Amino acid sequence: MRKSVIFVGVIFCSSVILQSEASSLVRKPKKPYYTVDLSGIEANELNALEPLEPEGVVGSVDPSEGLSDLPVTVEERLRERAELYSKAILKSKKSHRRGSGQRIVRSWDEWVNRNESSKFEKKLVCYYTVPTFQDRPFAVFPEQIDPTLCTHIILGFARVVNSTIQPNDLRDLEFYNRTLQLKSRNKDLKIILTIGNGQKETGFPSMVASNVTRNKFILDCMKLLETYPFDGFDMDWEFPAYYGEMEERNQFMGFLEEFRNHSDSVGPKIILTAAVAAPKAIVDISYDIPKLAGVLDFVNVMAYDFHYYLWYSPITGPNAPLDKSGYDLGITSTLNTAWAAKYWYQCGMPANKIIVGAPTYGHTYRLIDKDDNGYNALAGGAGSVGQNGYAAYPEVCNFLGTNNTVVRFDNETQVPYAYNTESLDWVSFDNEQSAQQKAKFVNDFDLGGVMIWCINNDDAWKMCNTSQVVFPIINTYKTELFRKLS
Ligand SMILES: *[C@@H]1O[C@H](CO)[C@@H](O)[C@H](O)[C@H]1NC(C)=O
Ligand SMILES: *[C@@H]1O[C@H](CO)[C@@H](O)[C@H](O)[C@H]1NC(C)=O
Ligand SMILES: *[C@@H]1O[C@H](CO)[C@@H](O)[C@H](O)[C@H]1NC(C)=O
Ligand SMILES: *[C@@H]1O[C@H](CO)[C@@H](O)[C@H](O)[C@H]1NC(C)=O
Ligand SMILES: *[C@@H]1O[C@H](CO)[C@@H](O)[C@H](O)[C@H]1NC(C)=O
Ligand SMILES: *[C@@H]1O[C@H](CO)[C@@H](O)[C@H](O)[C@H]1NC(C)=O
Ligand SMILES: *[C@@H]1O[C@H](CO)[C@@H](O)[C@H](O)[C@H]1NC(C)=O
Ligand SMILES: *[C@@H]1O[C@H](CO)[C@@H](O)[C@H](O)[C@H]1NC(C)=O
Repeated sequence: MRKSVIFVGVIFCSSVILQSEASSLVRKPKKPYYTVDLSGIEANELNALEPLEPEGVVGSVDPSEGLSDLPVTVEERLRERAELYSKAILKSKKSHRRGSGQRIVRSWDEWVNRNESSKFEKKLVCYYTVPTFQDRPFAVFPEQIDPTLCTHIILGFARVVNSTIQPNDLRDLEFYNRTLQLKSRNKDLKIILTIGNGQKETGFPSMVASNVTRNKFILDCMKLLETYPFDGFDMDWEFPAYYGEMEERNQFMGFLEEFRNHSDSVGPKIILTAAVAAPKAIVDISYDIPKLAGVLDFVNVMAYDFHYYLWYSPITGPNAPLDKSGYDLGITSTLNTAWAAKYWYQCGMPANKIIVGAPTYGHTYRLIDKDDNGYNALAGGAGSVGQNGYAAYPEVCNFLGTNNTVVRFDNETQVPYAYNTESLDWVSFDNEQSAQQKAKFVNDFDLGGVMIWCINNDDAWKMCNTSQVVFPIINTYKTELFRKLS
């Protein structure tokens, strides 16, 4: 989970610079903000290149270089976005010349057209973070969670500190116990502790660097289980070798193999999972997928944050599109859930180990012109709904109920968005309808299940008028995923 630097318990954007005034963009000197000339590259050539999530672009673009004029037409905006991504990818490829890349080992079509359908139970894997005072609109406590809502709860966060496992805060330990209590009311519920919390600066690099420190950490994890009997651990290192040295990729793999070997040798089955990237450029650098497939019980593919407000890419887009939009050009047509899930399969992850991520939160923008309000509309900053461009589902619902708010469901990306013609807020979010579509995708292609980020951001209070139940989005996944079996 990428973690915000601003609020605890919610994901992402650790490196994103939020710039609030569009006017300051316009006044900057006329200078292209990318220096690699890709003007001769055609859309179909861009297709051959790789996507990069916006966060990855940050390090390779110097804000002081200034910005070009704001792109006026949709075509200009799309081209600029695609070119920017391409440039960042070229840079990231250069700095990771050795060791990166995935081999496509099998065809998605063969999977789709296979003769027999596999019969395994789907998983509904829900991240849940220890409640804090900053939680919006309200904190969600363990006792509020129906122990049959999810098949797996992944509790966050623990950290790697000097090759030991530590709670983020000592007060979290009480919540470890309170969450583990849910198992007394559903013996099948698995509760996993996640380590890392998506910050860039983690204890992972130094821990995986030698077999001494790896061993120290693995033993410490086993020791923790004596007091806090979790069913396993989830590694949320974002991302091995992506910001650091290329060696981290193999070191991470070695660590997971040793973890698996050791935990298998000490007694009851310990679940081992990882939160993994969706964009190809990160996947290719960070993971050895065939080897991961051998040691992990499943991967939680973080299929969200595909688009959010960025000062250098100030145009609206869906947070977690199921599919590409007709507007997508070249590289950007890979920035969606279906593409990422297929890629993990093609590169060797067994279908039943691919847990497709989906958010209960939305991303916000502030429009510049109320009549330019679809995808690829010009935005001057993050919106005012929620905080810092991030809105939990109840906050989104509250926005939907305000005067002058228009709600649309995009039938290509299969997700809704909404905008307000007065406040100029624009929000991309997920709701029960998009949850149905994503669950259908997972069922149709017989993938392992759905991962939710996160329980805390769903509507725990029936604050949304449309909510028939608490946690309406997660409940939609539950209904749809297990429909076949019941
Ligand atoms: C699928 O079934 C057909 C007909 O029974 C058979 O010829 C084919 O080899 C099968 N394909 C696979 C991948 O098992
Ligand atoms: C890390 O652990 C080692 C060995 O247990 C110890 O010698 C060292 O002082 C610790 N470092 C920090 C920063 O706590
Ligand atoms: C959690 O429960 C375990 C086992 O009952 C106990 O040893 C530990 O002290 C508890 N931790 C907290 C913080 O209450
Ligand atoms: C650690 O690595 C060193 C050097 O590769 C090796 O000699 C040693 O046996 C390893 N120790 C363990 C516990 O695996
Ligand atoms: C894991 O255990 C297997 C079998 O005991 C062994 O062959 C392999 O080398 C071990 N791998 C690691 C990374 O310790
Ligand atoms: C939800 O209900 C409240 C109170 O009845 C109402 O003020 C609000 O407009 C409604 N919101 C939506 C989205 O219908
Ligand atoms: C919303 O619109 C209704 C009907 O036009 C009006 O009565 C109400 O005062 C408006 N609410 C706000 C908060 O502006
Ligand atoms: C989306 O809706 C439009 C208008 O109803 C229709 O023309 C188009 O074929 C639809 N696209 C998809 C992918 O369903």
